[in-house]
Amino acid sequence: MFECPSFECVKCPRLVEFRAQNKQKFPTYHNAPVESFGALNAEILVVGLAPGLNGANQTNRPFTNDYAGDILYPALKKYGLARGNYGKVKNDGFELINVRVSNAVRCVPPQNKVTADEVKACRPYLQAEIAAMPNLKIILSLGAVSHGAVLQALGCKKSAYKFAHGAEHKLDKNGLILLDSYHTSRYNINTGVLTEQMFDAIVARLKELVKNA
Ligand code: URA
Repeated sequence: MFECPSFECVKCPRLVEFRAQNKQKFPTYHNAPVESFGALNAEILVVGLAPGLNGANQTNRPFTNDYAGDILYPALKKYGLARGNYGKVKNDGFELINVRVSNAVRCVPPQNKVTADEVKACRPYLQAEIAAMPNLKIILSLGAVSHGAVLQALGCKKSAYKFAHGAEHKLDKNGLILLDSYHTSRYNINTGVLTEQMFDAIVARLKELVKNA
């Protein structure tokens, strides 16, 4: 059975130190590895980067109370992959349908930036999570860091599958499809790297892929 890293996970010194600072500054926040959202028997896994300081690090639900979630969750709902009202808190009753949402790194990093060592240290959790999803068909990676983390978790060569927005990679090792999107971050939206329409098209394609998988 897949287990989220425990509250005592101390693999990443920088993240442990940041967690200690945040416990002082924001004592009501979760301030620990963030649990994934959605059922393990889902056919779709969405993998983000890492919890946001005032988002998932506060709420203990990926992308929740985070700008990136304001783009992600309504789009999933629009395409029938979620239901209920996304209320930006864990107990809002919002539900994912056939989707699980996780992160490449499960603890909040300073300035939303993770290091290669942190992605590597967190990899066993992603590996275990993927292994615990018996019906998994498609992984949607939000951003290049997630894309790389997923490939490494699956033992696939990074050089064989280049990250590109909208790219669909059929992974030869296991038949899974890896779909790439730019991350739904505020920065990407504000700079026009990603628009809501572009992300809508990704989720529409995700829905189509899972229907035909
Ligand atoms: N919140 C998350 O949980 N993950 C991200 O990648 C961004 C915000």
